[in-house]
Formats: sequence, C-alpha cells, structure tokens
Amino acid sequence: MTSSRIPGFYKLSLDERHAELARRAGLTESDLQPLLQGCLRVESANHMIENVVGTYALPLGLGLNFLVNGRDYLVPMCVEEPSVVAAASNAARMVREGGGFTAEADEPIMIAQVQLVRVPDTQRAVDAILAQKAALLDACAQVHPSLVRRGGGARDIEVRVLEASTPTTKGMVVVHILVDVRDAMGANLVNTLAEALAGRLAALSGGEPGLRILSNLADRRCVRVRCSVPPHALRSDHHDGEAVRDGVVAASRFAELDPYRAATHNKGIMNGIDAVVIATGNDWRSIEAGAHAYAARSGTYRPLAVWRVGPTGNLEGSLELPMAIGCVGGTLSAHPGARLALRILGTQSAAELGMVIASVGMASNLAALRALACEGIQRGHMSLHARSVALSAGATGSLVERVAAELARSGEVRLERAQLILRQFLADPALAATAPMAERVSP
Ligand code: MEV
Repeated sequence: MTSSRIPGFYKLSLDERHAELARRAGLTESDLQPLLQGCLRVESANHMIENVVGTYALPLGLGLNFLVNGRDYLVPMCVEEPSVVAAASNAARMVREGGGFTAEADEPIMIAQVQLVRVPDTQRAVDAILAQKAALLDACAQVHPSLVRRGGGARDIEVRVLEASTPTTKGMVVVHILVDVRDAMGANLVNTLAEALAGRLAALSGGEPGLRILSNLADRRCVRVRCSVPPHALRSDHHDGEAVRDGVVAASRFAELDPYRAATHNKGIMNGIDAVVIATGNDWRSIEAGAHAYAARSGTYRPLAVWRVGPTGNLEGSLELPMAIGCVGGTLSAHPGARLALRILGTQSAAELGMVIASVGMASNLAALRALACEGIQRGHMSLHARSVALSAGATGSLVERVAAELARSGEVRLERAQLILRQFLADPALAATAPMAERVSP
C-alpha cells in the first residue's frame, strides 16, 4: 500500500474508484469481482445460515487517510448510515497531521467459562482445581493440538466463587480457562475446550457442570489507541483549532460524567468499529457486547475514548476496548467480500486488524465530537440524509445529487418534497441540467 491519502476519491465514478483501489492495494480487476456481485452469492449464503431466502446488501465504502503505527491502510467499511465513512476519513486526515494513530494489542487471549453448580464447599473446590492446574492445561493441549502447534493454546486457569456455600445452600463457582487463540476470533475453540473440561472440573469441585461457553467480555484481549492532533488540523470554517480542541475536551468530560452521554459517545465510536468488523466478516454482536460491558466495568457506564489537551497544546485522545476478532476461519472462508476486505487492508494478523479497527473507532469519535463542538451534527447529516431521501423518491444518476441539493437548500428534507422536486426536474430537463449538484463531503 503506497498511501491511503487519495484526494478527490469521492469525486471519481465507481469504475474509476475500482481502478484506483486495484492500483493502491495491488489487486487485479478480477480480484474486485465480488464487489460487482454484492460480495456474496445466494448459493453461498444458503450454506451459511438456515432458511435462506436471499442476501441483504449494505454499502461498502473505503475509509481513507488511515495511518496506524506508521503504516497506511485503506479501510473497507460496511455501513448504512450516511457520513460515517466520510467523517472517519476526515478525522483520520487530521490525526495524520499529528503522525497518525499509535496502537498496541494484548495477546489474543479469550476466556472460556465453565459454571459449576451445587458445589458443596466452594473454597475447597477452588483449591482442588488450582492444585490440578498443570494437568488441566495439559488436557487442554490434547483438545486442540493444532492450535498449540500454531503457538496458541490454554495459558492459565482462574477460579472465581460467585456464590459461597452455606450450611443450607450449595455454592456456585466459575472456572475461567484463558486461551491464546492466535489469529482466530476463537469462539469455537474456547467453546469446545469449555465443554471438554467441564466434567473433570465438576468432579474436582464436587458439584455439577452448568454453562460452558466463552465470555464476550474479552478483557484480556484489548487494543489501545492513542493520537495527538495539532490544533491547526482541527480548525473549521467558523472556529479556530484551539476552540475546536477545547470543545472536544469538554465533550469528552461530559461523557465521562454522564452515562446518558457516554452511551451516545460510544455509539459514535462503534459507528466506525462495527463498519470494519462487518466488512471483514467478524461477529459485530460480540464486539458490541464486549465494548459495552468493558465500558461499564467500573460499575458506572463510561466512555471508551477520552480526550485531553496535551503538554504541547495538541488534542490527545486515547481509546481502549476488547477486540475479539479473527482474520482466519469462521465466516471468512465462506464470504468472498470478507476475504477481499482483508486483502484490501493488507493486515497480517488479528492483532494488526484489531488495531486498525480501533483506530477507525477513534476517528469516528473525533469526527462526531468535532462536529458537535462546532456547528452541530445536523448540518452535515442533513445534506447526506437528503441524498437518501432523493434516492427514496426515485431519483437516479445525476438527479440524485440535484434533488438532494434542492432539498438541502429548501431546509425541508422530506420524501414528499423530494418527489415534487423530482417531478419538476423530470418535466423540465433544462431546469434539471442547470440545477446545482449536492456538495459531497470531502475526505
Ligand atoms: C450518530 O450516529 C453518532 C453520534 O451521535 C455520536 C456522538 O454523539 O458522539 C453523532
């Protein structure tokens, strides 16, 4: 990948964008074939889930300007919401001016949970299980020898008492098996392990096995991202960079103090994260569950990213969240779109992919806070929304942009209004030909 900075990409036709993408990502025209087929044929979909009656498409866009740990990435993003791709790309360009995103990832450790119930003496159960730790880890290695050959495997066993036994009740204990799943998301690997060990653990505890399943609070597999943005990169038409920076910091403090705001703040982060998680064929429900559980780990729901003014006057951001994603196995083998997305990204490991994904989340957050701190989110959103309304009204080709422009100008972005404008343009082609086109957000 040469550079992810492609000025004017938004102005190119679809064919021209494909050519640029192929050139930048070192792909051929036939590599891009899945893009012309909705990325998934119905015959393949039929093998993926049950009762298939078709496929359901979402737009796939490219996040631009992403520089993460000194490397450029073109980022495939699958999302229905207008402005998410443009806003993240815009913010990534600002972050680029401060040297890009700096990210690190934990080892890919997933947690398998084995619940033990009717445990007669919980403390004795804890001691008995921990005394057998080495033998239990050995048993894990027998379950997944190929994972061990790839450098992964069970790393540790922890035991927690959830409900102590009393003279009249029996207790509940949960065993965590910490498993290095390497480049897999790991759900199947850890679920199999939990099932395989449950009988032995129950016997050691004197109780009975209960649930055996992974935890989506994958807090041993976090990614952390930081960035430092010079104020001049943040300035807008009506606000200088320092004012925008201070507005973003005030927005961060608001989220830190108020769970109602923190939920929306984090939703903005997930706009970017989910888009890449979906494009790369990963389980976005698992990422969502992990992110929100992590945000609430202190007992209060908190923002996943916070922003401060750094010692040099730059806006400094940091983001941390669990990142249970894979780049092998799972949906990837069945989904040509996911495989292509990974080729476009060029990431070599799940850890690297996770760091890019989190950087996109951080960019989405910065873009939202900057817009909210300046003119508010609605102006930008409305002009993009106008395009969707124009499409719903039946506009095609250049009429989409012209109807959208007229809608945005009128300040009445409604379907009936769009239908009226479209009828006028169709009845008078000369009027349509001279009508202005909607301005696209430039990333
Ligand atoms: C909209 O999809 C996301 C935002 O609400 C995020 C935020 O408020 O920070 C704009």
